[in-house]
Amino acid sequence: MEIEINLAEPEKRKVSQFEELPFGKIFTPHMFIMKYEENKGWHSPKIQPFSNIELHPAAIVLHYSQTVFEGLKAYYGIDGKIRLFRVWDHIARLNRSAERLCIPQVDPEFVFKAIKTLILIDKDWIPKKKGSALYIRPLIFATQPNLGLKISSEYLFIIILSPVGAYYKEGFNPVKIYVTTEYIRACPGGTGEVKTGGNYAASLKAQELAQKKGYTQVLWLDAKEKKYVEEVGSMNIFFYFDNELATPALTGSILPGITRDSVLKLAPQLGIPTKERRISIDEIIESIENKTLKECFGTGTAAVISPVGEICYKDKSYIINEGKTGELTRKLFEYITGIQYGEKEDPFNWTV
Ligand code: COI
Repeated sequence: MEIEINLAEPEKRKVSQFEELPFGKIFTPHMFIMKYEENKGWHSPKIQPFSNIELHPAAIVLHYSQTVFEGLKAYYGIDGKIRLFRVWDHIARLNRSAERLCIPQVDPEFVFKAIKTLILIDKDWIPKKKGSALYIRPLIFATQPNLGLKISSEYLFIIILSPVGAYYKEGFNPVKIYVTTEYIRACPGGTGEVKTGGNYAASLKAQELAQKKGYTQVLWLDAKEKKYVEEVGSMNIFFYFDNELATPALTGSILPGITRDSVLKLAPQLGIPTKERRISIDEIIESIENKTLKECFGTGTAAVISPVGEICYKDKSYIINEGKTGELTRKLFEYITGIQYGEKEDPFNWTV
């Protein structure tokens, strides 16, 4: 399929200068858009000036949340090259999410071409400062007007780009997290292991509660026993015990994060063995108390690696590593961002 290109007015293409880049509030001048109709498949791909879109008020996505998305980044390297990080893994996950939400598959090669073409058109908007990047947000949603609950026969696939800085205001300083025993994020057989808007909407209530209590993020426990740690906020979570870096195993309700997978592969390169296993909240509290838990951090595309300095469980607060960013956390952050910005060798050929 050829992508029709319609460029924005030169005035709109001028790069805005920002002191501090917020996360996801600024958008580049162009967007990609493509339609799906049952009898035609995906068709009419376009890159056009960034604009609002028109939706029928009965569009299925607005009522029943039939939608999926991805989040990946392009980095401006120290050598002036633009690098996409694990783009093929993100596209593969987009299709896995689509499958779970009964959304038609997209051709990975074509999605890659769409991302690349769009980025090259707006390449001047890729921030150059280390720590910033161009966040790429592909999303697919059901547009058929129908108040009956059914699989939509029409969709829109959109890609938008946003120059971003740090996701959390804390930057790379440790965040405080609150263990919720009241709410759950996902359950076995649900949609927790894919990227669909509903998972994030359902997390807001607990997030609001945590923030009211002075915490940045929620630590989610499993739905069945409320005993095992699953995720933190919208990130995966890692615990560095004596000599093992552990993260909850993918049991069906945890998102298979791409940064999670990167950490699992990079830590052994630093001589640290990793383990995917069940980790109970009791084990965490015990290991904080007897000082065998050295470090804790969250991973995700938006935040990359976010150190955790404090956990509140059953109204009691526990401090990890004196509330400071740990050495391994920092090393992993530097390793991963080093690969992303082209400063370090890329042993797994993750960048394109
Ligand atoms: C990401 O980390 O890229 C996500 O998709 C999470 C989102 C809440 C920003």
